[in-house]
Amino acid sequence: MEFKKIFANEIVLHLENLLSINEVEKLIENPKYEQQGDMAFPCFSLAKLLKKAPNLIAIDLASKINHPFIENVVADGPYVNGFLNKEIVSKRILDTILSEGNHYGNHSIGMGKNVVIDFSSPNIAKPFSMGHLRSTVIGNSLSNIIEKCGFNIIKVNHLGDWGTQFGKLIVAYKLWGEEQQVRNNPIKELLHLYVKFHEEAENKPNLEDEARYWFKKLEDGDEEAKILWKWFRDESLKEFSKIYGLLDVEFDSYQGEAFYNDKMDKTIKHLYHQQLIKESEGADVIELKEFDLPPCLIRKSDGATLYATRDLTAAMFRQKEYQFEKALYVVGQEQSLHFKQVFLVLEKMGYSWSQGLEHVPFGFILKEGKKMSTRKGKVVLLEHVIKEAIELAEENIKLKNPDLENKSEVAKMVGVGAIIFHDLKNERQNNVEFSLEDMLRFEGTTGPYVQYTHARATSILRKGNDTNDFFNVLGLSDNHSWSVLKILMEFPNVIERSFNLNEPSQISKYLLDVSQEFNTYYSRVKILAEDNEKQGRLALVKSITIVLKEGLRLLGIKAPEKM
Ligand code: ARG
Repeated sequence: MEFKKIFANEIVLHLENLLSINEVEKLIENPKYEQQGDMAFPCFSLAKLLKKAPNLIAIDLASKINHPFIENVVADGPYVNGFLNKEIVSKRILDTILSEGNHYGNHSIGMGKNVVIDFSSPNIAKPFSMGHLRSTVIGNSLSNIIEKCGFNIIKVNHLGDWGTQFGKLIVAYKLWGEEQQVRNNPIKELLHLYVKFHEEAENKPNLEDEARYWFKKLEDGDEEAKILWKWFRDESLKEFSKIYGLLDVEFDSYQGEAFYNDKMDKTIKHLYHQQLIKESEGADVIELKEFDLPPCLIRKSDGATLYATRDLTAAMFRQKEYQFEKALYVVGQEQSLHFKQVFLVLEKMGYSWSQGLEHVPFGFILKEGKKMSTRKGKVVLLEHVIKEAIELAEENIKLKNPDLENKSEVAKMVGVGAIIFHDLKNERQNNVEFSLEDMLRFEGTTGPYVQYTHARATSILRKGNDTNDFFNVLGLSDNHSWSVLKILMEFPNVIERSFNLNEPSQISKYLLDVSQEFNTYYSRVKILAEDNEKQGRLALVKSITIVLKEGLRLLGIKAPEKM
């Protein structure tokens, strides 16, 4: 925050520009103990430059620094410790947060440039898996974070709506399917047909030929095949929309794999033209030996295109359409090789924008230590899981706050928030153990705990301040307020860090710390006591609600006023 810069500036001033402000700012540490002040500058690296012992440099600097925001400067061995003027600084922080409101923590890093983010991207006619849930939740949060950093974000759902499986599905439907059953229960029924196809095909290998034949028809634009394909797609999408509705996630585009069907020829021609394609047993591949990677398969010997062909074409299309600065793919880590290959092929094609492509991988969701599987009809339908979380949340709320008016609305916010937070509190590369009971606890490291803290702070505001008038608030100089203020001051840095790392967990962890800090404050300080700092304390509480609410929003979670 700006205070670090002020401190750095003061130091540079007395160093006759031996180091730049940036260098000094990077060196400044957050001291471990309160008695060491608010910022500490280590003098080790100056010793050589000045040919002087670090502790002597510290003494010298400490005696010279003088700024109204810095109340005291003390040499502590080789360190210069700076103590901020609590009264002035706290007033400034509170004024900033209260005037900026939910814009507090915004950055202009992106300068309005475009970022395309490809996330969720489930497969038509298959269940929405736990992996897709992770992609949805992480991708949605990253979108919010990137937007807060000043980029224009384009959210793309790259639906898995193309590929040989549609040939199988058409064959299976024509043989065993019933329209009404598909309408009633699309995903379940389509999955059932798909599984049945594989069972039957074990004894009747000509079914596979049939399927290839129908997929070819589909690729060539056959009317009947197209109608069936579109119907499967529409029905599946209706089901997925229910999940997106519950999670409150929206997309700018649903252009999935099928969208690129008529655009891949051009890609392949281009690759030929650049002499990048090699034939290998009748198939077209691009060698990536020089990167120690297996070749990227572009076209099979029967002429069919592949997942990678569609991703190459999609990246080119997106660059043309959106001129993105960055394009992120929020997809499980098991697809790392695929993305490495696709990005390198684009690099070989000479596209400098390929440097902006980034795979953002994540780990698995586990149940009792095992990967949750959606295979062979043994499906846990995600919609049911979310609804169960909402029901459990409602039971909790009925116990805790029986008089709450809009219980079911709040239950939705809490149940959904619990699922999202449980995912995002972990670094995304880690595996997550799925447990509804753990997620829904109101204490500990859960979404409901943060939401509850927000609601509690909001209720104090209701009790203490009917005017919501925070003009001319006095600064706060007590140590309890100071610890809260210092953490609130960190919010912009936390956002920048989560942006740089593509890590929503930076924010969720921070929100847990803020909640903890506030709950300690609440237990130690009489916030509503009638003295001349009451309005300042309320301004502090108001600032907490702003930061908690905005932080939760960045994760994709709502903050109810009461719960
Ligand atoms: N549909 C794919 C799957 O479920 C994920 C697609 C990810 N996005 C992409 N552009 N490849 O595995």
